[in-house]
Amino acid sequence: MDQHLLKAACICFIFSFFMSCNAASYNVVRYGARPDGRTDSSQAFERAWRAACASTSSTMVYIPRGVFMTKPVVFSGPCRSRILFQIDGTIVAPPNYQDMGNSGFWILFTKVSRLTIHGGTIDARGSKFWACRRTGSRCPPGVRSLSILWSSNVVVSGLKSLYSELIHVTVSDCNNIVFEHLNIIAPSRSPNTDGLIIQSSSGVTIRNSLFRTGDDCIAVGPGSKNIWMEKIACGPGHGISIGSLGNSLNEAGVQNVTVTNAVFTKTQNGVRIKSWARDSKSYATNVEFRNIVMKAVDNPIIIDQTYCPGDRCPRQTSGVEVSNVRYSNIKGTSTTVEAVKFECSVSNPCRGIQMRNIRLTTPNRATTSTCENVHGRASGQLVPKSCL
Ligand SMILES: *[C@@H]1O[C@H](CO)[C@@H](O)[C@H](O)[C@H]1NC(C)=O
Repeated sequence: MDQHLLKAACICFIFSFFMSCNAASYNVVRYGARPDGRTDSSQAFERAWRAACASTSSTMVYIPRGVFMTKPVVFSGPCRSRILFQIDGTIVAPPNYQDMGNSGFWILFTKVSRLTIHGGTIDARGSKFWACRRTGSRCPPGVRSLSILWSSNVVVSGLKSLYSELIHVTVSDCNNIVFEHLNIIAPSRSPNTDGLIIQSSSGVTIRNSLFRTGDDCIAVGPGSKNIWMEKIACGPGHGISIGSLGNSLNEAGVQNVTVTNAVFTKTQNGVRIKSWARDSKSYATNVEFRNIVMKAVDNPIIIDQTYCPGDRCPRQTSGVEVSNVRYSNIKGTSTTVEAVKFECSVSNPCRGIQMRNIRLTTPNRATTSTCENVHGRASGQLVPKSCL
């Protein structure tokens, strides 16, 4: 048995809990992909995918070791059976960012269910694109590295994503998606390189993952519910954010979000809820932040309902209702004195905010908390002293 087949057999064995193991494997090299780092392999990838997608028994798309360059690729379903997308190699973007096109996507999975993406590195090589944006000259719109749209029952495990042009991973209009052992890396000064953005989706779990980015590590956007984040390391970056919410009037809300066992290191924010200062029917409710360590974080705990870049909301207040948010067992250091900041909407005060066992300090001065338009209660040990 050659090494690839052996490997395929092993992985197949691991996944055999839910796969049948007589599965065929579709190696992208057999479809014309070249592991030379230069040849555009996007069409070969798509051909291998289409063959796997048509298979009546569970199958594997296999990207062996080596560096494969691809322009934007689309893996679309529905497929006839379960697919394991095994990446042993590295997928890199074309050297010239102009070749990423205008679709906004680099690697896109759409309308698939029962998919496991396992292993691999994807490197969008975003630095020249960031440089273009910094100079303010005319740049293409840029792409998100990995997008999963209109899909269900997807597991992404052990993926490393480097230097995205924009967002590293996007999940939209999906159900039941698990991310684990992700490694998301971009420099702290790379613009809009958010780690993972979720919107209009339900049942998304992110665990045992590391995010180092130039923007939000994870952002939970409108229409998200039943979101679970556990064992997350974030930093540098802008923290974990719910929002921005309330950009438009008829926007879906966010409910049932948990962040537990997270460590934030040198991030701009820790746990944040953020909404536009505009009228909206959106909301954020049943949110829990617990067992969190902050290491030199600028704004460890923050609700900001006054967001309005460019001053486009004169005399408006946020219509977003923030309610039932629990903070417990949050410890560590803040770089600013104002370690807890609740700036809620004048027209829609925050309700049901609970704080329990918080200890956030700075090296030399006592920390403070500020409350505007917020109702709730506090218990246990609290540093800074509660303003609720
Ligand atoms: C909240 O979300 C979690 C994680 O997705 C899920 O297990 C739980 O059942 C949800 N709770 C409710 C009340 O829907």
